[in-house]
Amino acid sequence: MSASQPKYTPLSRWLHWVSSLLIFGMLGAGLFMVSLPDGEPQKLIMYRTHGTLGLLLVLATVARAIIRWRSPQPLPAGLASWNQVLYKATHWAIYLVLIALGLAGMGALALNGVTSFGVDPAALNRDFAPFQGHFLFSRLLIVLVLLHLAGVLLYQFTKGDVTSRMGLKLPSKQHEFGIKRLL
Ligand code: HEM
Repeated sequence: MSASQPKYTPLSRWLHWVSSLLIFGMLGAGLFMVSLPDGEPQKLIMYRTHGTLGLLLVLATVARAIIRWRSPQPLPAGLASWNQVLYKATHWAIYLVLIALGLAGMGALALNGVTSFGVDPAALNRDFAPFQGHFLFSRLLIVLVLLHLAGVLLYQFTKGDVTSRMGLKLPSKQHEFGIKRLL
């Protein structure tokens, strides 16, 4: 890929990296908080923070989806047609699953008559579909994020520099990983 490949706008790059931090943080913290025993003060704090950060992530995702819909970014050069479909499907699936995940979380709390500010994990009735939805969407998100990372790294190592489109400088096929210089 040539060095003149179009980069994402500063706003899109900022939203991408803030969302990535939130996604990894929310997944890690979400899995950890459910494993804590009820009555642990840390569990209460984590449940209450989780909902608020999750809502911010949903809003950032809606903004990203609107930006992408209105001004689509050209695809990285040289993708086979099946890969172009996979590329677009993965990105849109991540947006949709993130929004569905957040809505399911809010629905789970709403059906208990609480908001994330007042939730008490020990008192939650989990016999509602949004709880199962939240669980399943969180696992689906993990699969999609791994697929996304695998695609980016595979492209970076075999085709060219795609991470610089997001402002991240990494070794790439384009730079031959310094191998030519070593030989
Ligand atoms: C959109 C980003 C979000 C991510 C990545 C995320 C991720 C997670 C994960 C991984 C878990 C652990 C699930 C399990 O193993 O049982 C969890 C639990 C939970 N999440 Fe989220 N979440 C998000 C948004 C939200 C929102 C917006 C709310 C509510 C306002 C929420 C409410 C909850 C609740 C109440 C639990 C605990 C479920 C239980 O105790 O059974 N989440 N979340």
